[in-house]
Amino acid sequence: MTDKYAVIGNPIAHSKSPLIHAAFAKQTQQAMSYEAILAPLDGFAATVQALIEQGYQGVNVTVPFKFEAFKLANQHSERAIAAGAANTLTFTTQGILADNTDGAGLVRDIDHNLQHRIAGKRLLLLGAGGAAEGVLQPLLAAIPSTLVICNRSLEKAQTMLKKIASQTQYQLIHLQACSFDELQNQSFDIVINATSAGLSDSALPIPDSIFAKNCLAYDMMYGRNTPFMQQAQHTGATVADGLGMLIEQAAEAFTIWRGVRPETQAVMQRIRNV
Ligand code: ATR
Repeated sequence: MTDKYAVIGNPIAHSKSPLIHAAFAKQTQQAMSYEAILAPLDGFAATVQALIEQGYQGVNVTVPFKFEAFKLANQHSERAIAAGAANTLTFTTQGILADNTDGAGLVRDIDHNLQHRIAGKRLLLLGAGGAAEGVLQPLLAAIPSTLVICNRSLEKAQTMLKKIASQTQYQLIHLQACSFDELQNQSFDIVINATSAGLSDSALPIPDSIFAKNCLAYDMMYGRNTPFMQQAQHTGATVADGLGMLIEQAAEAFTIWRGVRPETQAVMQRIRNV
């Protein structure tokens, strides 16, 4: 029998996840299906319940349901708890297990695929919304020398920082929260854009000087050349969009479900060309 999986979101038509998981399944010879499902904005829980009743094994969850997915589950991985959100649900006889593979996907793409190891680097995280929250703990666990969270509303960056400042295992990392106008005299080895500014083609008020020599500028958004990416390119930084993160978070979810880790490089090439 074919095991059934899906990704749930709203909107969902643009999702590349079915293509990615189909490629993983073929490569690892897993008998499974994976489809994209549009849930009504007020119908996430009902959609999940219906899928469980139809014998689905698990789902990925995307915007805007990641927080709701976390709340719906009765078991949570540590990284889901750290993010307060879930992108991977596994249906078991004990109920719904929530995990979050977004941060692990981002770290693996930066460290492994792009070969800019985070350990010991000065890292700037732009944004303090759900996307930034979701990747913060895995970024810290990769032990940068500095992690600055910068956000338009300073308060949100400060709240994020407060949550981690007391965690003793990160005491050696220099942590700071700031607003955009405090970036003037700082430069970084890795700059990650976790704001949603790219969605509206808005530029961020960031000075070119934040991009140090040999800097990696990473936009968590994929499929468009955002003003952030264009600016970074102009300064000579290495620029990446979030496609690698998308594929690596999918590989992590696939591994949780199937117990086998797919190889991602060939899939990355194929999806990039679709
Ligand atoms: P997501 O789930 O994508 O993170 P979100 O939780 O609404 O969405 O957060 C959006 C983030 O992008 C926030 O950090 C937001 O800044 P504010 O907290 O100050 O609102 C940031 N953002 C969105 N548009 C922006 C813009 N034009 N300039 C700067 N920051 C922007």
